[in-house]
Amino acid sequence: MTSEPIDENLRWILSFYRTSEISGALFFGQLARSMRPGPVQRDMTQHFADEAQHAHYWTACLEQLGASALRLGQSYQDQYIMAAGMPVNLMEVLAITQVFEKRVFSQYARHSRLLDLHPVVKKTLTKIMDDERWHIEWIRDALAGMRDDYGEDVIAATLARFHAADEDVYAKTATEHQERIDYLMAHSRRNDSK
Ligand SMILES: [Fe+2]
Ligand SMILES: [Fe+2]
Repeated sequence: MTSEPIDENLRWILSFYRTSEISGALFFGQLARSMRPGPVQRDMTQHFADEAQHAHYWTACLEQLGASALRLGQSYQDQYIMAAGMPVNLMEVLAITQVFEKRVFSQYARHSRLLDLHPVVKKTLTKIMDDERWHIEWIRDALAGMRDDYGEDVIAATLARFHAADEDVYAKTATEHQERIDYLMAHSRRNDSK
């Protein structure tokens, strides 16, 4: 426990991550439930268990910083399907997941490049990013295995469509998040050499 209260922007961001991880666990959990048993459902199950665990890591991180989590209304994921359109088959499910996971990873990577990160935050980011790397990998491999069934061009076009939706949702929903991250960036030294 630290005696000094943490910056409110940091508290908000860690709470935002926590809420997003809970939403991710629910989102991927619903996908796993809708799938037939097999390798993809197996990995999707591990995936949603990881996201639930990540939410717990952020809760624990906030506690170690002497702060409690804020209750936040909407998470990024809540608007995702609405903007991207409901995936109509397994390939589309994996494509939307891939795009989403890349967004999460780049956000965590950006945060982890702050040089004067609190060690507890850094440790939590590092631990979670290890899992997020695997999330991107297993989905990439699963999508590659679908080339013969769906066609490489169709998969590429689907990813492009979801990327566009992702940019759209991010621009609309992450304004506050962005402002707070920018604040933290401005008040810390950045490691731009990475
Ligand atoms: Fe996660
Ligand atoms: Fe993930």
